[in-house]
Amino acid sequence: MSERVRVMLSEEEVDKRIKEIGDQISRDYEGKQVHLVCVLKGGSFFMCELAKRISVPVSLDFMSVSSYGSETKSSGIVRIVKDLDEPLKDKDVLVVEDIVDSGRTLSYLLEMLRDRGPKSLRLCTLLDKPERRVVDVHVDYTGFQIPDEFVVGYGLDYNQKYRNLPYIGVVELD
Ligand code: IMP
Ligand code: MG
Repeated sequence: MSERVRVMLSEEEVDKRIKEIGDQISRDYEGKQVHLVCVLKGGSFFMCELAKRISVPVSLDFMSVSSYGSETKSSGIVRIVKDLDEPLKDKDVLVVEDIVDSGRTLSYLLEMLRDRGPKSLRLCTLLDKPERRVVDVHVDYTGFQIPDEFVVGYGLDYNQKYRNLPYIGVVELD
């Protein structure tokens, strides 16, 4: 069986949209410093590109979580594999994610981060699959809403492959 990747969103489309979101964030956080929290590994490519497009002062931190449950269905119980280095107290925190799917992981994560006392807490995701939502999550900045297809690229993987693709694609097996 061979795998092919069909382009869903080209490199140009993704780059253009990230620039637009960066501009929007720069306007919304004018006069403030935005503290970007990246959820590894998927959010890393998006976070780096986004951070370059933000004109207000930016600080960065990273965390890695794994959700209990099967590969394809997250349970919503999140285990912290790598915690943030810095406290969030009184910071304007913007969580940067690759994709919101069922919403289980993020709703749990956001609640946990809110308990750390940030001044504000918002969510930015490159992709959103609204049809798949099980738990309500408020998304402040969305790159693209996409249909219910399994996508790779720009940080997103299929069996740890394809994260490095500079576009968003769909894996096709034949
Ligand atoms: P959920 O919102 O808790 O269901 O889980 C979201 C996580 O599942 C994301 O952070 C991704 O790691 C993974 N995920 C969901 N949909 C996709 C996809 O289409 N491609 C790759 N990973 C995905
Ligand atoms: Mg993720």
